[in-house]
Amino acid sequence: MTERSAFVVVANRLPVDEVAAEGGREWRRSPGGLVTALHPVLAAHQGTWVGWAGGTDAAPGPFDVDGIHLHPVPLSGDELEKYYEGQSNATIWPLYHDAVEPPMYKRSWRDAYRRVNARFADAAAEVAADGATVWVQDYQLQLVPAMLRERRPDLRIGFFLHIPFPSIELFMQMPQRVEILRGLLGADLVGFQQRLAAQNFIRLARHLLGLRYVGQTVEVDDRRVKAGAFPISIDTAEMERMGADPEVQARAKQIRKELGDPKTVILGVDRLDYTKGIEQRLKAFRELLAEDFLSVPDAVMVQVATPSRERVEHYQTLRVKVEREVGRINGEYARVGVPAVHYLHQSYSRAELAALYRAADVMMVTPLRDGMNLVAKEYVAARGDLGGALVLSEFAGAASELKQAFLCNPHDPDGVKDALRRAVTVDQVEARRRMRIMQRHLRSHNVERWANTFLTELRGEA
Ligand code: ADP
Ligand code: F6P
Repeated sequence: MTERSAFVVVANRLPVDEVAAEGGREWRRSPGGLVTALHPVLAAHQGTWVGWAGGTDAAPGPFDVDGIHLHPVPLSGDELEKYYEGQSNATIWPLYHDAVEPPMYKRSWRDAYRRVNARFADAAAEVAADGATVWVQDYQLQLVPAMLRERRPDLRIGFFLHIPFPSIELFMQMPQRVEILRGLLGADLVGFQQRLAAQNFIRLARHLLGLRYVGQTVEVDDRRVKAGAFPISIDTAEMERMGADPEVQARAKQIRKELGDPKTVILGVDRLDYTKGIEQRLKAFRELLAEDFLSVPDAVMVQVATPSRERVEHYQTLRVKVEREVGRINGEYARVGVPAVHYLHQSYSRAELAALYRAADVMMVTPLRDGMNLVAKEYVAARGDLGGALVLSEFAGAASELKQAFLCNPHDPDGVKDALRRAVTVDQVEARRRMRIMQRHLRSHNVERWANTFLTELRGEA
């Protein structure tokens, strides 16, 4: 019989990676902030994490890593295509990001989404102890709260959406709109990154289902569902430690040397995703080169673009567009042995990312829409030397907190250029002042606080 837990996390992915090890392969905890934040809670409650282990072969049986029980949920090749690549990442992802690419709607994707959500709900119902707290994560699993409540009315169910929640007008496009809203309303507490998103949700409940609400609480049948903003953050102390690590600092120096010791290193680090505004940032760099405000080799740009969702059409198109723009800039402005843009379509270790953050004079985070954007927070935390400057899109959730960044509207090319210009030329005293204020904020508003605040509210202790 499966061991049952008083605390269960349900997320599309398990927080582990399968890596090569002596004598075969083994599972290691992945470095993400979410698992770092939840690890103490999971460890203290013999908690279980329910999620997909990756791959489409038969899922492994339940196993433990670092004191956490892991409960894999299998996905077939067909489900990966329809539930993950289709409904999650070609319908919901673009729609919730203000339709910056047109969402695609397909019946067979919706069916797969429903089927896979039911499988996650079954798994959670199986591992949750009587009266347990279950925390469901993100847009891939929006039907799980209601499905789980139906199976296990004794549970306390929380849901957190890591991405934006759209306006009523946009949400209404979705053929599955009632089902998704009812799915979310199965939770006791629905958390969002921003206050506006929580308001969108509450108003939607009235608009679409005629439900009454008082303040942040929606009345559903005989239950109350609370909505609220819980902006996620990073493991600030860990990133501060990494930035201060002598090996990381030596690597940062080496990176600058390898780049030709330029005066200005401009950095972008993202998943290769069309919401991230990578083209907009490249264009701003190109125009500042064209205007001779910047010149190679004094200024170079490094763009790390982690491969992501590579079988989804919009991601393939984006890759072509970004690589064409990088080629164009290098064609016009590079010299032999000195590229203007160093483009890296690769994944890196946390330490290498920290070294890149330490090496960069300007970090450009320019999403067209982003729930939070943790890269912006990581950059600030890594800069214990108070060096560097952050250019940040107003359309990233992080902009509500990192107000001392050079904020810009990524839809306005002149605005992006202006912010980049200001970040490149800011005097040191002012730059350090901005960095110090943002760091102070992140020290208190870390991911641990995020998790504790949500769980306290969910358990009704707030
Ligand atoms: P999203 O969740 O949309 O990918 P975030 O900025 O919120 O965007 O989070 C991205 C996370 O992935 C950050 O923790 C960042 O450090 C990590 N990351 C981004 N690019 C890379 C990369 N090339 N290699 C390893 N980790 C990366
Ligand atoms: O933050 C949004 C999110 O989709 C997470 O749910 C996910 O873990 C991460 O981005 C990476 O995306 P994917 O799991 O599709 O590779």
